[in-house]
Amino acid sequence: MIRLAQSTFGRTPDGTTVDLLTLRNAAGIEIRVITYGGVIVSLQTPDRTGAFDDIVLGFDDLESYLTKSRYFGCIVGRYGNRIAGGRFTLDGQTYPLATNNGSNHLHGGIKGWDKVVWQAAPFERADAAGVVLRHTSPDGDEGYPGEVAATVTYTLSDRDQLSVRYQATTTKPTVINLTQHTYFNLAGPKAADVLGHQLRLNASRFTPVSDVMIPTGEIANVSGTPFDFRTLTPIGERINETHEQLVRAKGYDHNFVLDRAGDALTPAAHVEEPQTGRTLDVATTEPALQFYSGNFLDNSRIGKGGRVLSYRSGFCLETQHFPDSPNHPAFPSTVLRPGGFYLSETIFGFGTRG
Ligand code: GLA
Repeated sequence: MIRLAQSTFGRTPDGTTVDLLTLRNAAGIEIRVITYGGVIVSLQTPDRTGAFDDIVLGFDDLESYLTKSRYFGCIVGRYGNRIAGGRFTLDGQTYPLATNNGSNHLHGGIKGWDKVVWQAAPFERADAAGVVLRHTSPDGDEGYPGEVAATVTYTLSDRDQLSVRYQATTTKPTVINLTQHTYFNLAGPKAADVLGHQLRLNASRFTPVSDVMIPTGEIANVSGTPFDFRTLTPIGERINETHEQLVRAKGYDHNFVLDRAGDALTPAAHVEEPQTGRTLDVATTEPALQFYSGNFLDNSRIGKGGRVLSYRSGFCLETQHFPDSPNHPAFPSTVLRPGGFYLSETIFGFGTRG
């Protein structure tokens, strides 16, 4: 079997070639990754009858990713999610960051790591195929201190799992919070919204946000709220309730604090799509996960094969540290220092049930 293929996806305006890496496993699961933003442009998995379909949102061409993406499928860095007022203080020094979400900094700024071309080194093993992506972010990039050397490794194994492993070092004290921003729709490319997907989150707490989507600092219990996904519940069941947090985010767009025992990989989320039987399992070393129900998709973008990327037509499970951690000393720390080593891993498992 051929596990790995490489071709050219396109060229950026400055002439840089963007490669397309195709990873396949024994079951026929196929993941296509481009070197621009480390974007997962397609992901084919079987449904319960064995029929393959693409379960992620995205575009057919590089031009669309360059000009109109909403973080489809990308690696987010240096900091996934928001930093309030686009500034933070570390070791007594205040760092102003690029602001690209009202007064806040979002997903690494104006030109985050989703908008750079990564160096790629594909590899093949007896039971897996993958690609090591490398990027060096210069000191001062989007306002952040320190030159950061980052590696993100995608590995698709014959256990039907995609591992995303993040590693980084820095030359100066800085903050870092890397994630992956794939929008899933397990029902395939013809499906409308994701509201029928059933979701379980291993989280008994979440971090409520202000009207500009910044954590208030409270760590709230999900009990008795529409944020309680501890048992399998359709995404759409409570999404339109008038709970203040749902109204503020226009649906789900919240950081769930995972119930975890230690630093090891911990189950974070389980999703089932009733029509096709496809399932998705997410495990992570991260303390939290942003569950985003695609509320900012507004029908204005045409995706792969002419699909309208419509309201709530994809959901994201962005494993991460809490939003705005650099301004919340009580949250788990996102500080990385010279000599330190940032390591984070998330595993997406693909399956079906009858
Ligand atoms: C994250 C954010 C959302 C939104 C999406 C991208 O999930 O929390 O508010 O920015 O990314 O559109």
